[in-house]
Amino acid sequence: MKAVIFDLDGVITDTAEYHFLAWRRLAEQLNIPFDRDFNESLKGISREESLEKMLNHGGAAEKYTKAEKQNLMLQKNRHYQKLIQNLTPANLLPGISRLLCELKSEKIKLALASSSRNAPAILERLGVIDDFQAIVDPAVLVKGKPDPEIFLTAAALLSVSPAECAAIEDAEAGIAAIKSAGMFAVGVGHERSMHAADLMVKDTRELTFDLLNEGWHAAGVEAEIDRGK
Ligand code: BG6
Ligand code: MG
Repeated sequence: MKAVIFDLDGVITDTAEYHFLAWRRLAEQLNIPFDRDFNESLKGISREESLEKMLNHGGAAEKYTKAEKQNLMLQKNRHYQKLIQNLTPANLLPGISRLLCELKSEKIKLALASSSRNAPAILERLGVIDDFQAIVDPAVLVKGKPDPEIFLTAAALLSVSPAECAAIEDAEAGIAAIKSAGMFAVGVGHERSMHAADLMVKDTRELTFDLLNEGWHAAGVEAEIDRGK
């Protein structure tokens, strides 16, 4: 394992909750049903795709013009930006600061693969932006998660091969992206969304270098058994 690639929202900090609150407020305004279960399907995907999914879910796909949709996204993002404006290093999820330190002292390279255009500002507020050697700009990607492009781009920016990377995600679309990038997938949280992960933890407190490393080696052994070695 030469590199670890992190998702942001719901892995490094609890901004997944703020995305939920901001989308839910917009949904209420548009009279679209919105609960935590539906919100799971929005995790990891872009702002544009999230709005489309939400409108489809409410039977309102054809109801708005392009310009109106832009405006709805702007409203959501303004509300979201209010929710994140007071983030500080105290908002790192439990165990993340320790994990970043452990990975740094093991000389593991770190990258961020978040679909959020707010990610650099959030890392800055959390005080961890300098821990990452690469941050993928989602604006340059052709396809979002579950496509592997964002994770492959992160590996390329770090100059490591995908097979040498582990990546950590809290979204089903994210785990699918990691697996199709050919990387070791670590899932955090919601068990149902994490079934395809190679290693699963309920809470970020459990994430340590030792756990990742043991899981990595165990998966390597399994892969060898699969190949009949
Ligand atoms: C992902 C979140 O990280 O970023 C999604 O899981 C969010 O919920 C997406 O919609 C895009 O974020 P933003 O900040 O660019 O609207
Ligand atoms: Mg996430």
